[in-house]
Amino acid sequence: MKHQKLEKNIGLMGVLIAIVVSFAGLVEIVPLMFQASVVEPHPNLKPYTALQLAGRDIYISEGCYNCHSQQIRPFVDETMRYGHYSMASEFVYDRPFQWGSKRTGPDLHRVGGKYSDEWHEYHLMDPRSVVPESNMPGYPWLAEQTVDAEQVAAGMKTLKDWFGHPYTDAQLASAKADVEGKTKLEAVIAYLQVLGTSIPRSYK
Ligand code: HEC
Repeated sequence: MKHQKLEKNIGLMGVLIAIVVSFAGLVEIVPLMFQASVVEPHPNLKPYTALQLAGRDIYISEGCYNCHSQQIRPFVDETMRYGHYSMASEFVYDRPFQWGSKRTGPDLHRVGGKYSDEWHEYHLMDPRSVVPESNMPGYPWLAEQTVDAEQVAAGMKTLKDWFGHPYTDAQLASAKADVEGKTKLEAVIAYLQVLGTSIPRSYK
């Protein structure tokens, strides 16, 4: 009888459903906040260098994430195609992470080292010059524009001061000089080439 009352009273039912769902959510989410494998960096993981960080910013500003995910799911079809599945410990220095959910193009989490810098250069300038059937847009202006060195240096300092990314004083001091005069194309390629390289290729 009590149950019938509950099922016929949609307001009460709604409140109780909300309580059950929130409780279940907490049970799943809260332990993750303390689990070492999720909050501690992978032993091979290094914070992005100034040039890689600049490339990451360009990846975001150009909207590459609209077509590319950066998360390999632990399914055989994915690991056979892309390599070892992605682990949370590999994204500790990604703020915000670029996991994405749209795959018009392939997943990019382990694209680092897959191609030469030169291949990426041709591909980003004109994708169809290396992949004839590609429907990815070209980004030729990346070769003409240079990186904003001031902003990269300031960004690195913020990542250290606010989020504790382990940059050395020497890295911070040379950040501006490291990227001064570099093209956006060079920066994006430096970023792509480090993606997913915490796990050595031979273990893929
Ligand atoms: C409109 C969708 C779209 C956008 C936006 C896009 N891509 Fe792509 N990308 C693709 C498609 C489709 C492919 C597969 C064909 C090819 O290799 O060109 C691809 C392939 C790639 C590959 C080769 C991956 C591999 O494993 O072979 C890289 C690297 C890449 N894209 C980088 C980028 C970067 C960097 C940006 C942003 C500057 C970007 N893409 C923006 C659709 C897109």
